[in-house]
Formats: sequence, C-alpha cells, structure tokens
Amino acid sequence: MKKVLELKSGENIIIKHLTKLDVDGVWYNFNEVIEEGIYLPVFFPVRSQLEKDSWYRNIKKENEICIVGENLDLKTPYNIIGQCEILNCEWEASEHVGVLGIIIRDKYRDLTIGRNLIDFAIRESKKLNNKEKIILSTFSTNERALHLFSQIGFEVVGIRKKQFFMESEYIDEVMMELWIDDYLEKNK
Ligand SMILES: CC(C)(COP(=O)(O)OP(=O)(O)OC[C@H]1O[C@@H](n2cnc3c(N)ncnc32)[C@H](O)[C@@H]1OP(=O)(O)O)[C@@H](O)C(=O)NCCC(=O)NCCS
Repeated sequence: MKKVLELKSGENIIIKHLTKLDVDGVWYNFNEVIEEGIYLPVFFPVRSQLEKDSWYRNIKKENEICIVGENLDLKTPYNIIGQCEILNCEWEASEHVGVLGIIIRDKYRDLTIGRNLIDFAIRESKKLNNKEKIILSTFSTNERALHLFSQIGFEVVGIRKKQFFMESEYIDEVMMELWIDDYLEKNK
C-alpha cells in the first residue's frame, strides 16, 4: 500500500513500506539526527553496512512496520526524507503493543509529514500486526514532538525524571500511549 502526500511547496512525497533500497536513506536520517544531538539518547552514528543490513533483515523477519517518506526527485540516500517505525515489544505477553519511533529530516519538518507517517504506520500496525496500543517516549525538551504526539491523541502516562544525561544536563523522559481503536474512531 502507498499514499501520495502533496506538500504546500508542490513537492510530492510517497508514503510506503520500507524496502531494501531505502536502508541507506533511513540510516542517513538517523545519523543526521544523532549529529543534531538534542532529540535522541544516542551518542554515536551508525556507519557499519553490516549493522544497517542486519537491522533491515530483522525488521522483515519480525514483520515489524517501517514506513518511509520518499521524494522521487532526489537520489539515494537523500530521497528518504523520514521514517516511522512501529516495532514489537520485547515481551511475549505484549504482542498487542507496538513501540513507535519517528524521524523527519531537518529541512522537511513542520510540513505535516510526521503526522502522515504516524497515521499510516498506526493503521498498518493494526491491519498487519494486530496491534492495539502504541507506546513511545520522548525527551521532555522536545516540544515539537510532544505537541504532535498530543495532537494525534497520545496521552502522557508517566515521566522518568532525569532519565538521560546529555551535554552536561539531565533530561526527563516522557512516556506516552495511544489506543488504536480510539484513534481510528476519531480519524475515520
Ligand atoms: C518530531 C518530528 C518527528 C515531527 O515531524 P514533523 O513532520 O516535523 O511534524 P508535523 O509537521 O506533522 O507536525 C509538527 C507540529 O509541531 C508544531 N511545532 C513545531 N515546532 C514546535 C514547537 N517548538 N513547540 C510546539 N509545537 C511545535 C507544528 O506547528 C506542528 O503542529 P500543528 O500541525 O498543530 O501546526 C520531527 O520534527 C523530527 O523528526 N524531529 C527530530 C527527531 C525527533 O524529535 N524525533 C522524535 C523523537 S521521540
């Protein structure tokens, strides 16, 4: 399944499931966000092709959801302008729960791509993986992400105080969750 999102600029973004050809673009975005240094609790970029490929194989083996936004006018790896994953929970008894992560490339933020990738990923995770609930966590300092997640309907279920220490400062972790049926009811 695919969807086309037309941006205000006139650019078309294809929203679709991850394929092997998209792996370099996904990791390019990840490494760029790591270099920004304020959004993810990771210090080092991933450069190893082995690691990138094994991540891809694992996603496919576990039937996990990774939705990407692609600009067909750009060459790899720049064509993948964002990604949203809904991964399985580590616990066998939590098969109904998906764990969401999302990254949109800097230049493409605030254009509704994040919202559209999340919407697509939520729907696919129910349809393909029988997920019922989506959980995520974010830095308490990430105002844009908190705004977007709340607007979609995620509710704050807890705060882990000083969970991260970055750039000589502690940061709280905000944990949020969303019931998919409630979301679908409100977004028919
Ligand atoms: C967070 C992120 C995924 C959102 O994706 P996006 O495509 O930029 O999101 P959208 O354009 O769909 O929506 C952004 C919303 O945040 C709002 N926003 C932007 N900056 C904001 C700020 N500083 N404070 C509050 N709201 C803000 C926008 O106005 C928009 O809301 P609106 O639709 O009510 O106007 C993306 O910006 C990103 O990848 N950021 C860096 C990595 C990251 O933080 N990942 C999430 C880690 S949990």
